[in-house]
Amino acid sequence: MIESSDFRTTRIPLNHGAGQIPALGFGTLIADAAKTISATTDALEAGFRHFDCAERYKNEREVGEALQAGLAAGGIGREDIFVTTKLWNTNHRPERVEPAFEASLDRLGLSYLDLYLIHTPFAFQPGEEHDPRDENGNVLYDRDVTLLDTWRAMESLLDHGRCRAIGLSDISLNELLPIYESARIKPAVVQVEAHPYLPETEILEFCREKGIVLLAFAPLGHGARPGPLEDPVVLAIAAQVGKTPAQVMLAWAVQRGTALLTTARTADRARENFNISALPENAFDEINRIQTRQRLNDVVKTGSPGFIPRVISA
Ligand SMILES: NC(=O)c1ccc[n+]([C@@H]2O[C@H](COP(=O)([O-])OP(=O)(O)OC[C@H]3O[C@@H](n4cnc5c(N)ncnc54)[C@H](OP(=O)(O)O)[C@@H]3O)[C@@H](O)[C@H]2O)c1
Repeated sequence: MIESSDFRTTRIPLNHGAGQIPALGFGTLIADAAKTISATTDALEAGFRHFDCAERYKNEREVGEALQAGLAAGGIGREDIFVTTKLWNTNHRPERVEPAFEASLDRLGLSYLDLYLIHTPFAFQPGEEHDPRDENGNVLYDRDVTLLDTWRAMESLLDHGRCRAIGLSDISLNELLPIYESARIKPAVVQVEAHPYLPETEILEFCREKGIVLLAFAPLGHGARPGPLEDPVVLAIAAQVGKTPAQVMLAWAVQRGTALLTTARTADRARENFNISALPENAFDEINRIQTRQRLNDVVKTGSPGFIPRVISA
């Protein structure tokens, strides 16, 4: 469990001696290129040292640019930050994994990654089109590759020393189990949507037992209103402890042993979301007792991201 009550510097050990992941992570799913640069810069200045990227977000170049500039300006070393990116669904075929990884590294301007994730367990038709569809708008899946085939190629990346840890995202426990059992190198991190309305207790328990870090995305419920940020229990605790509802929800996430990814587009919010410390035990328990359930992102059902607007070409 978490020892210190100040979560700004909390780091969680990864399996295989792959170092530690800062519990407070900054997510770069930001549609606008200029905003990506300013928000990443603000996050670094606020104190975030963990950055979550993806080939699919189409902004690795901007994140990389902001990180290079921020590191140089702040006297921060590459070893002081933790950078993740993700393999997109159209690159699941084993021969496509290393080229996709190298292309991401190149866009980010980095020589190694701290963590590389399979973005979703769904393989799409290979190619340059991220969202391949048939004439009726149905996703074109690739039935000729299994998730285990892709995992084996991820293991090779680790063997070659270009990334320090590998993992999976948007995966259910049922899909994770067979990979975990067959893997030569066990996943270090599993990234899924998790917040008080979707606590994902079963997968969290499994991860705890196996020494896998559960990395929660949308820990603020993606800012949805109504949503967990406006839950009466969260609001009452915020008033009681003198913190904002967002700080209460992020504290809860770290206190239950997960790392998290939050996204803020302004410097004030980046500072607010980094200034996180433990909740009193009774407040933590009260949040655990919230009964409302809501999944905000259906990516786990189809592999198509719920928070990225679909562009339909004319
Ligand atoms: N693996 C996957 O498939 C997957 C899917 C989704 C996301 N992710 C990752 O997870 C990251 C985080 O996801 P998310 O953006 O849904 O996280 P989130 O932090 O739960 O939600 C962000 C939203 O909350 C608002 N917000 C941020 N700080 C706030 C505060 N202090 N008070 C009130 N509202 C606040 C933001 O508003 P403003 O924008 O106005 O600041 C934004 O609308 C993404 O960037 C991405 O890296 C991964």
